[in-house]
Amino acid sequence: MQIVRQMGPLRDALRDIRRKKSNVGLVPTMGALHAGHMKLVEAAMERCDGVVASIFVNPTQFGEGEDLDAYPRQEAADAALLEAAGVDLIWAPTVDQIYPEGFATNVSVSGISTGLCGGSRPGHFDGVATVVAKLFNQIRPDAAFFGEKDYQQLAVIKRMASDLDFTHDIIGVPTVRDPDGLALSSRNAYLTPEQRRQAVALPDMMRDAADAIVRGGDIDNILKDAQAKLLASGFHEIDYFELRNAETLENMPIFKKPARLLAAAHIGRTRLIDNIAVA
Ligand code: PAJ
Repeated sequence: MQIVRQMGPLRDALRDIRRKKSNVGLVPTMGALHAGHMKLVEAAMERCDGVVASIFVNPTQFGEGEDLDAYPRQEAADAALLEAAGVDLIWAPTVDQIYPEGFATNVSVSGISTGLCGGSRPGHFDGVATVVAKLFNQIRPDAAFFGEKDYQQLAVIKRMASDLDFTHDIIGVPTVRDPDGLALSSRNAYLTPEQRRQAVALPDMMRDAADAIVRGGDIDNILKDAQAKLLASGFHEIDYFELRNAETLENMPIFKKPARLLAAAHIGRTRLIDNIAVA
């Protein structure tokens, strides 16, 4: 398995892989890999002959005061995991390979990227869409794999790929959770042991709320009640806790399938997100 950091060697490495492999899957990541990321790699290995993983902590998707500097970086451990999984190539570009001097282009997906994380993290999805469009052009994969953990991100990328004529498949992979239900996230590493114990309230309250909605309860009351319980369980701020159409992400005042419950909340200095199907 090769690790390349510059466009020239990337082109050479890809030419090599394409000579041997009939199709290539791409798994974009920011590193600090856990079993959630590795599930995407597994899905890519199942579907594709060759697999490229990218590791790039993309500065443009972090807002002012967010955790860009603190974001965990552990490339050697990541590389060992990816190699053991059978990945062919790691694309770990330096910042100048993605944003060379004079870089002036922004990919902005309207509609689906407003509200939810787009509301609490202004500019975040522009950063994501721009870097992912670049990764698609750099690798030219036959399929790219993204987690449902970042449900709005997956929707934004699907929209962007369709709008910009990227014809490869965009594959969504279900969220991997710890046994107690907390979704795996690189940011879970920020939690103290006590916060980690408390954090399970997020998936717990989401499941309770989803069940109550399916049983036909009043959506407003259910969402308010779940948020109050979350605030009583160690979370100190809730960015959103909302029921949305699972495909368009439009607001859903009256329950109708396909529906998705999506939430973002802060515990200590950590912002956690999660989402589940309401079915
Ligand atoms: P990152 O947070 O490293 O996540 C990389 C991919 O792993 C994303 O598609 C994310 O949804 C998926 N993922 C994370 N936790 C998961 C879990 N518990 N179960 C399943 N999949 C999970 O998302 C990004 O990086 C960046 O925004 C990126 C797309 C790489 C663009 O910079």
